[in-house]
Order: sequence, then structure tokens, then C-alpha cells
Amino acid sequence: MADLEGLKVAKDYHQEIPFANQNGFYVKGANSLDWGMKRHLSNIFNPKSGKTVMFAFDHGYFMGSTAGLERLDLLLPKLAPYVDCFMGTRGAIRSSVAPELCRAVALRVTSGSSMLQDDLSHEVVAVDIEDAIRMNADCMASQTFIGADGQLSSIDNLSRIINAGMRYSIPTLGVCAVGKDMERTDRFFKLATRIIAEMGCQIVKSYDCENFEEVAAACPVPIVVAGGKKLPEREALHLAYDVIQKGAAGVDMGRNIFQSTHPVEMAMAVSKIVHEGLTDAQGWEFFQDLTHA
Ligand code: R5P
Repeated sequence: MADLEGLKVAKDYHQEIPFANQNGFYVKGANSLDWGMKRHLSNIFNPKSGKTVMFAFDHGYFMGSTAGLERLDLLLPKLAPYVDCFMGTRGAIRSSVAPELCRAVALRVTSGSSMLQDDLSHEVVAVDIEDAIRMNADCMASQTFIGADGQLSSIDNLSRIINAGMRYSIPTLGVCAVGKDMERTDRFFKLATRIIAEMGCQIVKSYDCENFEEVAAACPVPIVVAGGKKLPEREALHLAYDVIQKGAAGVDMGRNIFQSTHPVEMAMAVSKIVHEGLTDAQGWEFFQDLTHA
């Protein structure tokens, strides 16, 4: 391990220069992966725009029944046409959405905590690779707690998931966790997203922050940005627009879609911004036209 004393601050991110190792395959950092991995990534990232709108509804794995997600069986079929990927647990997906309606699947494979605890940073790998294969998962999502009590075990989980994924050509989505007491600075996200990418994840999920463009530039695989706590629709659309402008490869949005008064219209507006280049103002206008809000 390098001596940390006198460490220089990283600053040469060259955001204006596109990522170099593309050579034909459009998903960042995936050029040297095999056909099966690329196929799964193509299911997640739209080949025309290169981006994705993931709909996150895995909250039940530690929050139980969540406002807006009370009836997955009613919500998921309605949203399916307007998002690229469903991010959820195997229990939610198998029980509540018909295979023919399901989009690409980001399968949550870690578990072990509940919102009743103070420290949520200790999880286990709860899904066998065989079950991810049976569900034809397009990626496996693992929570990773950099700088928290559970860092070592979460990196151990992540490594085991990535190793299994490499055997069967299933990408891993490393979810950068932010606990109650964890920093949300660009310094933290540059550290955490890079560790997760260098572990071998093909996709990283993270959060918006100051200097997000530097976080995205320094991460050699696509970053999808979580929506986070519920915001007014106008602000959530701004978040989507802003992170895409700064180099995100998509959003992984939950509450800002399923807790909206109009979840379907919100998913449609987010998709227009992510895939069709609408500005946030245009996305908002589109949303208002649909909902008469
Ligand atoms: C992440 O670990 C969570 O389970 C959610 O998938 C994630 O936070 C995205 O949902 P939201 O946009 O509601 O934050």
C-alpha cells in the first residue's frame, strides 16, 4: 500500500476529452469485455443514446413497505414502457411483474439490514449466482460501504459477486452507499466510486455532488445517479438534466418517480431528458402538458 504522507491532490481530470478505450463499443470501459457482458450492458444502456433510466424499487429490502411502493403489481406494469431497467429484489420482481412485461433487470443481491438499526453497513450476499442466471439478470447490484464499519465485508461481498459475474458474463452494479453519518463530498465520491470501479464493477451507482463532472471523468465505467429523497418534480428533472450534462450515463431513480403524484408521467419526462436531450425546462414543460400540473 502506498505511503499516504505528502499525497498530492488529484486535479487533471480532462473532462473535455472523451474516454479513450471505446473502439466501437459504446458503454464506457466495457470495450474489452466479452459478448455476453456486452449483451447485458446493451439491455441496460440504450444503444442509441448510450444512457439508461433505471427505475429503483429495491427500497423494501431494508425499508419494508414504502410509500409509493405499496402495490408493486400495479405500479411496475405501468412504468415498464417508459424505463430501461428495473432495479429490485428477486422477491419483488418474481412475484409482481410478468416476465414479458419486465425490462432489463438490475437484481439487488445483497441484504442483511433493516431501517430499525443504526448501522446499516453490514450485509451478506443473499442471492446465489445460479438464481441471478435463472432470472436472466442483466446485472447484480451490491451495496458497498466505503469508510463505514462494514467496509471490509461489503468489499468481500462485492468481490465475490464480481468473480461470479465474470464466470457467467453478468455485469455487477456497485452501489456506493451513503450512511447517515457518512460524508457526501466530491472527495468521498471520488474515492468510493473509483474503489468500486477498480474492484471490477462494470457499472457504479452514486450520487450527485459538487464537482460531479470530475467524479464521472475519473470513473472508468458508467456512473448512474440515484435520485435520492423526494424532491419537487421540477427539481428532480433538473437533477437528471444536470448530472447527464456532467457525464452521468443515466439515472437510477426511485422515490422521485414512485412518490410523484404522477409516476408514469415523471418516468416519461426523465426519459426524454436522459435519452432525447431535453433540457430540464423542456422536461418540466412536457411533464406539465401531460399532467396539467
Ligand atoms: C439504494 O441502495 C436504494 O435502495 C435505492 O435503489 C436508491 O437509493 C435509489 O432510489 P432513490 O432514488 O429513491 O434514492
